Amino acid sequence: METAARTAPAAVIVAIDGPAGTGKSSTSKAVAAKLGLGYLDTGAQYRAITWWMVANGIDVEDAVAVAGAAGKPAIVSGTDPANPTITVDGTDVSGPIRTQEVTSRVSAVSAVPEVRTVITELQRTIAAEAPRGIVVEGRDIGTTVLPDADLKIFLTASPEVRAARRSGELKGKEAADLASTQAALAKRDALDSGRKTSPLAKADDAVEVDTSELTLDQVIECVVTLVEEKRTVA
Ligand code: DC
Repeated sequence: METAARTAPAAVIVAIDGPAGTGKSSTSKAVAAKLGLGYLDTGAQYRAITWWMVANGIDVEDAVAVAGAAGKPAIVSGTDPANPTITVDGTDVSGPIRTQEVTSRVSAVSAVPEVRTVITELQRTIAAEAPRGIVVEGRDIGTTVLPDADLKIFLTASPEVRAARRSGELKGKEAADLASTQAALAKRDALDSGRKTSPLAKADDAVEVDTSELTLDQVIECVVTLVEEKRTVA
């Protein structure tokens, strides 16, 4: 059919998982922007619910209290890769969710099954409603949230490289030396990989990309090529 080449490509769902400091956010945003797709930072959603728990005086180590409150905050994610936004009950929390106070508590909150159920549901709705498709980044997207994603990527990097990248992102009083950043990342990895409900894990059908020796542009190019190959085959 002569019109086939002109029809808009079908919506494509890309899952990008991996631990912190592997270039997940920068890669996901850039790939989404290049391909005209939406972008969803699922870590920001877990940070937002953690921020709400702290702001409302809930003890994050009390899993029963966290579970009971999981459905209360209204978390809204804006999916424009050029301007991703996150609000809780209408308040912009894009700054507060990046503080050490939230970062040190997010693994405890995100390990609570009721929290994961609420946030997973939200993520699936956002992905289903993205008109041209979406790049979703996180820890359990390929394994649990969107197991039927068109393309699954699992990003890795050596502990040293990840710590150096993360140190570069931290500013002012939150900046730490490399050794303590590496230790904090290792602790968060252990909690995120060790939890019972949808731990950080590579899906069997994910493409693993070790970013240690690659520039950000090279990683972006690699993922864009993989998406385009999928689209050609589909
Ligand atoms: O990507 P990030 O560092 O902003 O994520 C913050 C935390 O949220 C991370 O320590 C684990 C949790 N998380 C999760 O459990 N599942 C996801 N899909 C994304 C993040």
